[in-house]
Amino acid sequence: MPESSVTSLRRGFKTRQIPESCSLIIFGATGDLTHRKLIPALYNLSLNNELPEILRIIGFARRDKTDQSWQEELEKSNSKNSRSGHDSKAWNKFATSFSYHRGDLNDPESYKTLSEHLDKIESEKDVNHNRLFYLSTAPQFFPVVLENLKAAGLNNANTNAWSRIIIEKPFGSDLKSAQDLNQAVNETFSETDTYRIDHYLGKETAQNIMVLRFANSIFEPLWRSRFIDHVQITCAEHLGMEGGRGGYYDKAGATRDMVQNHLLQLLSLIAMEPPTDLSADSVRDEKVKVLRTIRKMNAKQVTENVVRAQYEDGSIDGEPVKAYRKEDRVDPESMTESYVAMRLYIDNWRWEGTPFYIRMGKRLPKKTTEISLHLKSPPNVLFQKLPSAGESNILTIRIQPDEGMSVLMLSKKPGTSLKIEPVKMNFHYWSSFEKGSPEAYERLLIDAMIGDATLFARRDEVENAWVFIDSIEEAWHESQEKTPMAEYPAGSWGPKEADHLLAEMDHEWRTL
Ligand code: BG6
Repeated sequence: MPESSVTSLRRGFKTRQIPESCSLIIFGATGDLTHRKLIPALYNLSLNNELPEILRIIGFARRDKTDQSWQEELEKSNSKNSRSGHDSKAWNKFATSFSYHRGDLNDPESYKTLSEHLDKIESEKDVNHNRLFYLSTAPQFFPVVLENLKAAGLNNANTNAWSRIIIEKPFGSDLKSAQDLNQAVNETFSETDTYRIDHYLGKETAQNIMVLRFANSIFEPLWRSRFIDHVQITCAEHLGMEGGRGGYYDKAGATRDMVQNHLLQLLSLIAMEPPTDLSADSVRDEKVKVLRTIRKMNAKQVTENVVRAQYEDGSIDGEPVKAYRKEDRVDPESMTESYVAMRLYIDNWRWEGTPFYIRMGKRLPKKTTEISLHLKSPPNVLFQKLPSAGESNILTIRIQPDEGMSVLMLSKKPGTSLKIEPVKMNFHYWSSFEKGSPEAYERLLIDAMIGDATLFARRDEVENAWVFIDSIEEAWHESQEKTPMAEYPAGSWGPKEADHLLAEMDHEWRTL
């Protein structure tokens, strides 16, 4: 059994262990992700004493900086982005581990000097040469960084040490480019040393899906097409193309940007069979089976089952908001969707015939992600004729922001006559555990240091998700005029075509 599986089995899903000392090398050290997510996550881990005894954080980027000036910039952004605030004393202690290495991603020489820098700082305090490389650069640099790491021998770990790579999405823009990237990665690092980040898997409630399903006996018997009428997964965002994102987004669109990865990952956690154990490979084996069995669509089926749309002028929180095509760096004639809704089917024993609806949109009224399982109604013989009794039971898993779960059921309203009303049993993380959840990056960074890949996307997961997404993208590409681009005002819940998609089967999107 590979080392990572053993570690994962021992840790299970919950128990914590402090990782061995290591060096974390961040390519893209001056970028947005480093400032907004990575350093605040590491800082919060240090406050909770969860980091290795010795953690060296090495920033690699082209700009001219010193250790000191890099630290100062990070301190400023940490004070804005840290979830638990910023304490200068704690920061100063944490920041002693930082060093900055100026280098050019394209220049092999920069990696030789990085290697010397690592040997030097690693031998100052101990003899441990564990290394975690973090690719937080624009995706076009992934291949050259991999090539140069290999040429400098940095992919090969020293005896008794490990060398791993973390890669940020996007993992390609279609199946072919994902396969090419995976090939380049696997020629440099083994799959067990490769950690593809999908930060939705690090979210507390996403991790709880497996616990909810497999640690409780109440849900499992119902978790199948016989009892579940349909499933909805919604990811709504109020943001548009802030921070110059239009350039990237207009080439990707909602389907590639969020459905291919985050939403299909949530879907596979909801639909998977119980794994044989909690090792990374057992869990991912089951998820990949779901991705493989999502029914592929031909062009006609795409037209019937998928709605794409762009936002028009509108308003959010009372502020006017401009249309997608007027956004900075977006083509004024763009045919890229800022919203997508689809009905899909999983062709396996458990889910035969159950529609799964997915919707994702930018510039919707609020930011929220949730999954709801809508149960079938009981036989129509007793209470079903009473007003309100038509509602079905709904199990809702709120991924963010108000993390928790609820079950909607019907109850008799107190009184002398028989009236039925829907009521909710609610579980909120905040009130039950009296502490906030860690940021997804905290969990994921620690897991990569420990060597537990359970919450990272494996190569075959990524590629199978692309097979399904490509069937949609190709249909759109080949018949632009047959697959119209619907519209919705910014600040609304999406186009009417998405409502019709559900109405065809007597369903309705949940009001969030
Ligand atoms: C990213 C997408 O992967 O996830 C963004 O590229 C999106 O477009 C973001 O806004 C959403 O993440 P979260 O954690 O804020 O829901």
